[in-house]
Amino acid sequence: MKKVILAANWKLHKSPMDAEEFLAEFLSQWLQYSSEHEAWFFPPAMLFETFSKKAKAENLRFGLQNFWKEESGAFTGENSLSVAKEMGGSLALIGHSERRHVFGESDNLLQEKLLLAKELGIKPVLCVGETLEQRKSGQTFETVRSQLINALGGTESFDLAIAYEPVWAIGTGEVATPEQAAEVHADIRGNLKNLWQEQGEKVPILYGGSVKPGNAKDLIAQDQIDGFLVGGASLDPQTFIEILTESIK
Ligand code: PGA
Repeated sequence: MKKVILAANWKLHKSPMDAEEFLAEFLSQWLQYSSEHEAWFFPPAMLFETFSKKAKAENLRFGLQNFWKEESGAFTGENSLSVAKEMGGSLALIGHSERRHVFGESDNLLQEKLLLAKELGIKPVLCVGETLEQRKSGQTFETVRSQLINALGGTESFDLAIAYEPVWAIGTGEVATPEQAAEVHADIRGNLKNLWQEQGEKVPILYGGSVKPGNAKDLIAQDQIDGFLVGGASLDPQTFIEILTESIK
């Protein structure tokens, strides 16, 4: 059986009380799977305290959805990656499509963030993916490849995960077919190997974009799909855990 990484991107959802309730229900079921699989959480930064309290005891990994490229300073409204680390965060999303497209984050900025995460020993989950227009005009591979190379080009290998999230599948209910996902994942693997040689084999590649219990099994059956980054379906503990149980059926 494949080890599955089940990652939750909560975006701007939930209060501390919601998070406590979620975790109580989720953890009561998760423990039977936690020795073989991994659960990663990306809650809003304001819920970090709640995760911080649980993380050690429950062997949970969590991290920021966004942070600034410097650890501290005059950056009103931003999150500090080193403070997140102090609070037990060991992961960070970088380059989620909402950061790229809603907040206008450039490849340049994303690489700076990536280098800070590397320096602090935080595992980044670098998100890549094409828009519908790019897919329709046959630019899927080129887009994903350039996002990958702009972020990782010139770096030595380090502890990292990739999330392939086609922008047209995020929050739309439209999921990539297993074949569509598989061919992009295979291309990402090839690019990782070009960049980092055999170390490129070790980087987990997650799929994200309308993952649900009903489509998880066919996706995880694909060779280079190592887990999922889940938005909407991660907000309910039962649905979220079902993505795992369906994947390993
Ligand atoms: P979705 O979001 O599962 O709601 O499509 C995925 C994501 O944005 O990471």
